[in-house]
Amino acid sequence: MTDPATAAWYLRFAEHEARGESAIYEEWALGVAADAGILALIAELPRPKQQPNLIFAVSRLLGAPEGPYGPWRDWLADHWDAVRAEALVRATQTNEPRRCAVLLPALALVPGPLALLEVGASAGLCLYPDRYSYDYDGHRLDPAAGPSTVLLECATTGNPPIPDAVPEITWRAGIDLNPLDLTVADDRLWLETLIWPEQHARRARIRAAMDIVSADPPRIVRGDATAALRGLAAEAPADATLVVVASAAIVYLTPENRARFIDTVTSLDARWISNEGVGIVPSVRDALQGVEPPRPGLFALGMDGRPLAWTGAHGRSLDWIRPR
Ligand SMILES: C[S@@+](CC[C@H](N)C(=O)[O-])C[C@H]1O[C@@H](n2cnc3c(N)ncnc32)[C@H](O)[C@@H]1O
Repeated sequence: MTDPATAAWYLRFAEHEARGESAIYEEWALGVAADAGILALIAELPRPKQQPNLIFAVSRLLGAPEGPYGPWRDWLADHWDAVRAEALVRATQTNEPRRCAVLLPALALVPGPLALLEVGASAGLCLYPDRYSYDYDGHRLDPAAGPSTVLLECATTGNPPIPDAVPEITWRAGIDLNPLDLTVADDRLWLETLIWPEQHARRARIRAAMDIVSADPPRIVRGDATAALRGLAAEAPADATLVVVASAAIVYLTPENRARFIDTVTSLDARWISNEGVGIVPSVRDALQGVEPPRPGLFALGMDGRPLAWTGAHGRSLDWIRPR
């Protein structure tokens, strides 16, 4: 039995996420939304696994043709058992180093050196803001050791406090339910496959970031963000300021667990930065009541539960809103 909500999900994905980003994913999502046969197959999966991004990435991982809907649809129907099995063991864990470009001005507000702890770290690409180069509207910033192979470009408004130097990070660690290990070929391949078909520049950037991170792999503890936070935070060195970062991660917690996570993080001797959808951190949402975002679909960057900026998809823009 197909669920009209699944068709609506694919339609929404086509119109609000894929359009303008991936013509292939837009066509596939529109095709699925109107295809009772494929919707019936997808309905065999538990609801969270029916996610368009997951089904599309798994199909590409298994060799589906990246082109028009018709041949992709036939491939999917022929290979459905394999796709279903793979979707059940995979999760979308897109890790986007460019998000460091929106985190950097917030990190710069904290006196260093920093101990950086990321919850929902995936492969840890956002744990290395000190190893990337940045370009904010032509203002360039490089790591202390010189230009990085990864350049993160970010368009800004509102005069964000762009620092003169990348932060000094003396300790870094992450927590993830399912850490990806970039020294393992399959994890690397999955991370690459999560990048949408036409996003060639992004793929190149993420490959370069994966090389940086795999040369000095981070410690990422397998566990739940809330349950593992206090124990890992206790390991941070006392002579650094602990900063807990959550980027596109709190959204994955149930509302009750979000409240528990926020209680836990605020009880630590730490600063905390969130980069999440506007409704995800209640205090950020409440403070932004009545404030119009400059464009639809932006995330809200928060520091210690108070809003700082609007941020664009995958860190491409930063609209500062808090007076300095
Ligand atoms: C979309 S990825 C974001 C990765 C990274 N923070 C970034 O911004 O690029 C979300 C990550 O959160 C992890 N995650 C989801 N629920 C979690 C939980 N309860 N505890 C820890 N990690 C979780 C997922 O496994 C995934 O790797």
